Order: sequence, then structure tokens, then C-alpha cells
Amino acid sequence: MAQRSERMSQDLSEALKESTKEVHEQAETTDFMMRFQKGQMSLHEFKLYLASLYYVYVALEKESERNKDNPVYAPVYFPNELNRRAALEEDLEYFYGPTWRKEIQCHEATQKYVDRLHHVGQYEPELLVAHAYTRYLGDLSGGQILKKIAQKMFHLPSTGEGLSFFNFPGVTNISKFKQLYRARMNSLPMDSATEERILEEAKRSFLLNIEVFKELQRLTSQGQTTENLRLEEPKLDLHSRGINRTHSPKESDRVQMGHQQMLPSTPLLRWALAIFFLATTVGVGLYAM
Ligand code: HEM
Repeated sequence: MAQRSERMSQDLSEALKESTKEVHEQAETTDFMMRFQKGQMSLHEFKLYLASLYYVYVALEKESERNKDNPVYAPVYFPNELNRRAALEEDLEYFYGPTWRKEIQCHEATQKYVDRLHHVGQYEPELLVAHAYTRYLGDLSGGQILKKIAQKMFHLPSTGEGLSFFNFPGVTNISKFKQLYRARMNSLPMDSATEERILEEAKRSFLLNIEVFKELQRLTSQGQTTENLRLEEPKLDLHSRGINRTHSPKESDRVQMGHQQMLPSTPLLRWALAIFFLATTVGVGLYAM
């Protein structure tokens, strides 16, 4: 109880930062995020990451819209400044091509996150601020570091294509906007029990993100599944259309694969070719003698 009254003397924004410190560290240090920070992520992984974020933001922004006039959420409703759905659609089209909607898939951990967002938006709207805080303030903070890493890692153009998710054209000064957002969070009407639930929900939101990262890590370390292969193809399309100049180490593998594929695929034909070359070589040898 002493802890709660101590928290109530604190602004919600400070309490959120403090109570999510540990889970933030956990999120930052997941294998997936560590590899991102070290610039060791493959383009395939990055595409899956953007696809997951797409489902998350579609849900978050749908619930945000539903609650835009609800006093427990309205002060932090900033669609023009923050909404990410359209930006993610642009990025997905850039990386997957025009058929991106058919290419992407909502995996289990992402679906769990999406379900929680819909539950909160419909039945516990006072907790929606916790989810908006976790994602949007994160995107405006660490997200800006990740943007630079992604740009370098995938040789993306400085004009911003493929990086719309990280760009906030509606926010002229990120640091000032974050201050405004915190002030708006602090103005939300709530009692101590609600504040406690919001803090718990923010931690839960981080954990849902962590589960998504772990799942993406599992999916991509399983090797080239059928789905992976299907997802890699459009990258070639992008290259042939000259839109994407990205090069990942895997592409050189694919070039080599292409050369191997020039050989006949059936063993019988390969044998026939080998015998033909052998006979030609022996014939030329005998003739030269
Ligand atoms: C590689 C991963 C990450 C890095 C490098 C990173 C880095 C940072 C940095 C430098 C800040 C600013 C801290 C400050 O202003 O005092 C920050 C804040 C924040 N990050 Fe992250 N972060 C990462 C991942 C995440 C993830 C995965 C989430 C949530 C899904 C997240 C959510 C947040 C939030 C909500 C804040 C705002 C904290 C506040 O001011 O209340 N971050 N992050």
C-alpha cells in the first residue's frame, strides 16, 4: 500500500517509465533485438518484423479510433502525428511488392498481442493508454536508433523508402512531442487502482512484444521453411523492377543457386550429359594422337 501512495504522488509518465524499466531491458536484450542492434538481421527477418508490426498497429489504431472520444483515452489520441498503419503499408509494398497482403501472415504471438489490444479497446479502454505508450513512445525513442541501423544494414535509400514506419512526418520535434504526450498521459483522470492496472498493462504490453520477437527468432532460425522461400521471392521481383537496391549476404547464395539450377534437374539427364562430355573428351584425345 505504501508503494501505491508513493506511486500516486508520481506522474503517470514517470511511473510508467520506472515500472517498465526492467521489461524494457528484457525487450532490448532479446536475441532478435540484439541482432537488430548489431546490424546482423537478414532482410527476411526484417520483413517478418514489419509484417507483425502491421497487424499490431491495425489493431491498436482500430481501438484508438473506437476510443477517440472516451475521456480515459481522448487526451492521448494523436492520429495525424502517430498512426503507423499507412506507413507500414508503404513499407510492406516496398519490400514484398504489390501482392504483400497475400504474402504476410499473422503468427501466433502476434495474434495474441492483437487479441489483447481488441479486448482492452472494447472492455477495458482505460488501459489502452498503456499500449499506446509502449508502442508509440518506443517508436519515437529507440525506434529512431533502429531506423539508422536498418537503413545501413539494408542499404536503403536516404530518401526514406522502406523506412516509413520509423518516420513521423507529423512530428516536427520528437523530443517536444514526447513531452506533450507525457503531459497528456498525466492529465488522464484515474484513481490509484486504475493507475496500478495501467502500469501492469504496460508491462504486459512489453511482454507481448517480447513474445513476438522470440517467435520471429524461432521462425527464422528454423531455416528455409516453405514460407521463407515464398517470402524471399518478391525480393527478387523488387530487384528486377529496380526499386530495391538492398543486398543481403543470402543474395550471393542465391546467385550460386541460380548457376546450379542451370544444370538439368533429373539425374538421368545429368548422367547423359556427363557421358557425352566424357566421350567427346576421349574422342578429341584419340584424334589428337
Ligand atoms: C533495440 C531495442 C531498443 C532500444 C535500443 C531502445 C532504446 C530506447 C531509448 C534510448 C529510449 C529513451 C530513454 C530515455 O529517453 O530516457 C527508449 C525509450 C523507450 N522505449 Fe525503447 N528501445 C528498444 C526497444 C524497445 C521496445 C521493443 C519497446 C516496446 C515495445 C520500447 C519501448 C520504449 C518506450 C515506451 C520508451 C519510452 C520510455 C519513457 O520515456 O517513458 N523500446 N528506448
